[in-house]
Amino acid sequence: MKVPEEVVAALRSAGSVTVLTGAGISAESGIPTFRGPDGVWREVDPEDVATPEAFLRDPLGVWRWHKKMRKLVLSAEPNPAHRALARMEGMYENFTLVTQNVDGLHRRAGSRNVVEVHGNILRDRCQDCGKVVEEPEFWEMDSPPRCSCGGLFRPDVVWFGEPLPKEAWEEAEGASKRCDLFLLVGTSASVYPAALLPQVAKSSGAYLIEVNVGPSEASPLVDSSIFGRAGEVLPSLLRALEGG
Ligand code: APR
Ligand code: ZN
Repeated sequence: MKVPEEVVAALRSAGSVTVLTGAGISAESGIPTFRGPDGVWREVDPEDVATPEAFLRDPLGVWRWHKKMRKLVLSAEPNPAHRALARMEGMYENFTLVTQNVDGLHRRAGSRNVVEVHGNILRDRCQDCGKVVEEPEFWEMDSPPRCSCGGLFRPDVVWFGEPLPKEAWEEAEGASKRCDLFLLVGTSASVYPAALLPQVAKSSGAYLIEVNVGPSEASPLVDSSIFGRAGEVLPSLLRALEGG
């Protein structure tokens, strides 16, 4: 695809880049998005599987739903969009990849400076002592394992109504304030506080580019919207950046 000249210029002149990715970047890896026609939240109510109250009420059901999601994530591979971002990282002085995704595909694609603002579904956290583990045998279990302190382990992801990991949020916010180019990829920009990040970047004078198959809640904010699948658009942006 032809990348608009203005976008090529912005990519080439940027000194500090911050990227915010959402479920759309993993769609072509076979992981369903949350909203939109075949979104996850059309099949199940997040109130039943993705809140602390749900886990208190039905730990088995919540654990098993996450087990299903983990299977999806474990069978998924990074796609050309993840790999293009991993290549892009090495082309800038400052490059921060903030992701709302919990699938770990950015790191598997080779990205290094990844900020997971919603946690990671392959990790578990004890809800009493806070101990965090990445334990493959937990992924096979049908009920939440117990920690040595007696507490229950739960997936180390941010559920609705929960605060984001403090350090991750501060890093994401700082990177959005500092950047001169902010790239949104595959996010509806509809869930807060992550959806504040493009606004933070905008008010700090950054140039905003959005890559999405359709408009999002951030569309009125961005300087340039590139409509298309991330798996096609991001490699084109990379080629344009490399002077291809
Ligand atoms: N390429 C680019 N964009 C895509 C593609 C694709 N192949 N497929 C879908 N999209 C876009 C959709 O148009 C939509 O704007 O990806 C976006 C996905 O939006 P959501 O499903 O709302 O996912 P996300 O923005 O990541 O949700 C934010 O909500 O449920 C919570 O914690 C969950 O992190 C998630 C948060
Ligand atoms: Zn514990």
